[in-house]
Amino acid sequence: IEPIGVITCKAAVAWGPGEPLVMEEVEVSPPQPMEIRIKVVCTSLCRSDVTAWQSQAIFPRIFGHEASGIVESVGEGVTEFEVGDRVLTLFTGECMSCKHCTSTKSNMCQVLGLERKGLMHSDQKTRFSIKGKPIYHYCAVSSFSEYTVVHSGCAVKVSSRAPLEKICLFSCGVAAGLGAAWKVANISEGSTVAIYGLGTVGLSVAQGAKLRGASRIIGVDINTGKSEIAKAFGVTDFINPDDCSESVHQVVKRITDGGADYSFECVGDTETITTALQSCCDGWGLTVTLGVPKVTPLISTHYGLFLSGKTLTGSLFGGWKPKSDIPSLIDMYLRKEIKIDELITHNMPFEEINQAFNLMTEGKCLRCVIHM
Ligand code: APR
Ligand code: ZN
Repeated sequence: IEPIGVITCKAAVAWGPGEPLVMEEVEVSPPQPMEIRIKVVCTSLCRSDVTAWQSQAIFPRIFGHEASGIVESVGEGVTEFEVGDRVLTLFTGECMSCKHCTSTKSNMCQVLGLERKGLMHSDQKTRFSIKGKPIYHYCAVSSFSEYTVVHSGCAVKVSSRAPLEKICLFSCGVAAGLGAAWKVANISEGSTVAIYGLGTVGLSVAQGAKLRGASRIIGVDINTGKSEIAKAFGVTDFINPDDCSESVHQVVKRITDGGADYSFECVGDTETITTALQSCCDGWGLTVTLGVPKVTPLISTHYGLFLSGKTLTGSLFGGWKPKSDIPSLIDMYLRKEIKIDELITHNMPFEEINQAFNLMTEGKCLRCVIHM
């Protein structure tokens, strides 16, 4: 067997906050023990990439965390994957043995959970460099590169029938929305739902609510351009808060006889969490927050909302155990029980990745799929 060497390939490197990415030749080190190196096939741009690119301080960095690809090489000790396997990357992994992985109540792996420092979990180093200078990771995935290295616990094998140029969406946004509706809220038939923010995440919550037989799905977005696609994903009533003469939670309360059974925050704004909480009903109203706020991380709300019996909860990746649960979502897609193709508004070659950032910043896309 030939030893696995360094690969030099193209990557879109972010050198500073909000600065256009630059195509660079990067060195990608061989996978370390329990890691795999992946040839990225497709990667979609998620709002969290844009939020982190605009507001975080770790640079130079390779973003990207919704991706599909093919295993190029495997590190020592890896038995789960072979060269040539088709995989999805996971921004939150599953080690299968920690307290959370062995509990049915959680997907918050203690070993391979969300990585925030731009390093690899196992040795706190990077696998990318330019002329020897380290380039940081994002969520231990970094898919805006022709090749990337991830921990074997941060990837999942997918069916050979699943189209890689579509299913990359299951790596984050779509799964997060469906899981919030099904696993976290466990929406029951005939219930009323209010969804704040109708991007890929909010529309996936709507699809999940519709499939559970929700009687009314109220979608709230400041962009009226979202109303058409929202209908296609099950939204029965579209509200643009800017068009209302009263506050939006009052509108929701009026049309749902005192508040929705469930409300979801899919914007990434803590003030909207408060609004979502105000729009669900007393007694059993449940608010699920999914967004990642860019500013003001603290939530401020009146204690009385909780005394009246409302619950506020959140979830990462829709509460799914990524390795265990994602293959069944892909199977549902292959059986045409859930749709995702309609969420892909743009396809583009890797060289045009900055165009995807522009479209998302301007609110002109749902998902842009970047073909490597
Ligand atoms: N009220 C209602 N809708 C809003 C508001 C607001 N104050 N501000 C923005 N929006 C709408 C936007 O017009 C857009 O349609 O929220 C939607 C957000 O969609 P995307 O930007 O496409 O984001 P998405 O990928 O769906 O992610 C939503 O979840 O995973 C997190 O980081 C992600 O915080 C982000 C959120
Ligand atoms: Zn674990």
